[in-house]
Amino acid sequence: WSTVCCVISCAIKTSCWPMRRRITRHSNRHPPMTLRINCRHGSAESYVEVLQASGRGAKVLGGAAVRLDVPCNVRDLPGFAEGQVSVQDFGAQQAALRLDVADGMRVLDACAAPGGKSGHLLELADIELTALDIDATRLERVAENLSRLKLNATLAAADAAKPDSWWDGKPFDRILADVPCSASGVVRRNPDIKWLRRPEDFAALGLQQAAMLDALWPLLASGGKMLYATCSIMPEENQQQLDAFLKRHGDALSVSSSAITALPVAIVSPSVVCRKITSHAMRRLLLSAVLLAGRCWILRTGRRQSNSSCAAAYGWSWISASCRGRSS
Ligand SMILES: C[S@@+](CC[C@H](N)C(=O)[O-])C[C@H]1O[C@@H](n2cnc3c(N)ncnc32)[C@H](O)[C@@H]1O
Repeated sequence: WSTVCCVISCAIKTSCWPMRRRITRHSNRHPPMTLRINCRHGSAESYVEVLQASGRGAKVLGGAAVRLDVPCNVRDLPGFAEGQVSVQDFGAQQAALRLDVADGMRVLDACAAPGGKSGHLLELADIELTALDIDATRLERVAENLSRLKLNATLAAADAAKPDSWWDGKPFDRILADVPCSASGVVRRNPDIKWLRRPEDFAALGLQQAAMLDALWPLLASGGKMLYATCSIMPEENQQQLDAFLKRHGDALSVSSSAITALPVAIVSPSVVCRKITSHAMRRLLLSAVLLAGRCWILRTGRRQSNSSCAAAYGWSWISASCRGRSS
């Protein structure tokens, strides 16, 4: 997956026009409005029927994800106030799924605000969730979102890189590190990034991400799983970060997940997708997953069990087909 990142990065930095045009075109389009249907309330298919009955076109993207034909005010969505549905990109919906939480687990969402993934984790299983964010004001959004979903977590305004100040010493079975990043993969949703981001930001963010990962790692239970996620397309924040982490932590391992491996292929070369995926519908789905919703995985982290057998474990990083600065 570092190859994927390098290709994208090179495509942006060099004059690889087809790729650059592709990334540019999609980063300048209006993003779609994608919903996550709360699996405690019903399925994506049944919600699409409800939408259609109210005159709105929508389609199931897969799992709990539904894309509206035309974006609308959330207040107009049936069941929104009751927590039946949330707005969340298709790519972002993969994170909580990949953490494969189960009832009774102790889970940490280390960078939780505004709470999109916290809510999803809590919908998936009856877990004991700690939702942490350094920004107390943004943490209020987590409280609001969880209140609407009628789900509970322990909220803490604290620095994930300084667990001494907030950790009770009990290990977590799962940790989600959805770290602050350059957001170079979500330019379409945040166009100001093109003007605000500076080249020197990447190194600084990389150091911050590494410090956070190192600080969180000892909090993970033996055999636990930590998921690393960014919304950046930069190798420094993705594969290179993972490689460096694995070098620093001999008890960590990276485990691949086959479920989504086709997605980055869709970004890199449609011809590769054509070869591998004959179904046009499937090809379109994969392309939209990457190009419209953004984000796909790159890296994983895990942890060896103390008895030396390898724990199934992984982490994620996300990229999307948009680029910073040079595309507009
Ligand atoms: C990418 S956003 C998280 C999005 C969130 N996981 C979701 O799905 O809604 C990154 C978050 O990290 C928080 N953050 C930045 N530095 C932090 C730190 N040192 N400790 C904890 N949170 C931090 C930011 O305030 C921001 O809310």
